[in-house]
Amino acid sequence: MAYEFTEEDLQEIEKIKAKYPEVKAATLPVLWVAQNRFGHVEPDVQKLVADTLGLPQAHVHGVASFYTQYYKEKKGEHVLDVCTCLSCQLCGGYDILEHLENKLGIKAGETTEDGKFSIQEVECLGACGYAPMLQVTNDQYVNNLTPEKVDDLIETLKAGKEPEYDQIGMPLRKVK
Ligand code: FES
Repeated sequence: MAYEFTEEDLQEIEKIKAKYPEVKAATLPVLWVAQNRFGHVEPDVQKLVADTLGLPQAHVHGVASFYTQYYKEKKGEHVLDVCTCLSCQLCGGYDILEHLENKLGIKAGETTEDGKFSIQEVECLGACGYAPMLQVTNDQYVNNLTPEKVDDLIETLKAGKEPEYDQIGMPLRKVK
């Protein structure tokens, strides 16, 4: 598929580039612009980013593939990043992951058939004091998880509502 940035995106990208002495440094924020526009940064989108910045595609791929926050393939409407790093693991992160997998009928790395949910197993998200936790679509953190809280979260998201838990929003919100 051929992807193109809008005029508005290109203006934003020019502003981003102007902030840095080297264009390579703009790779991370421009990948965000791309993900906000297309919902993912699959290889054709990575190529667009590389061409737009005049950088090798291998560089953009290297950056995109390092971070789970960049979706290298199309994902569901809600991407549930379950942390299984040390603190979360010790506090039952794998039990939470298994519960979520059973509830949605998919494994980590997969998307439900209706396209509503994807699960990712991720490294530490910096909320170790609230373990176990997960993040919803690069935005809200849902902390101190229990199986009941996971069930409630899924029902809330299915109903099209925002989860109302103690949470930390990421500064970069996705375009709805
Ligand atoms: S170990 Fe899970 S947030 Fe740090």
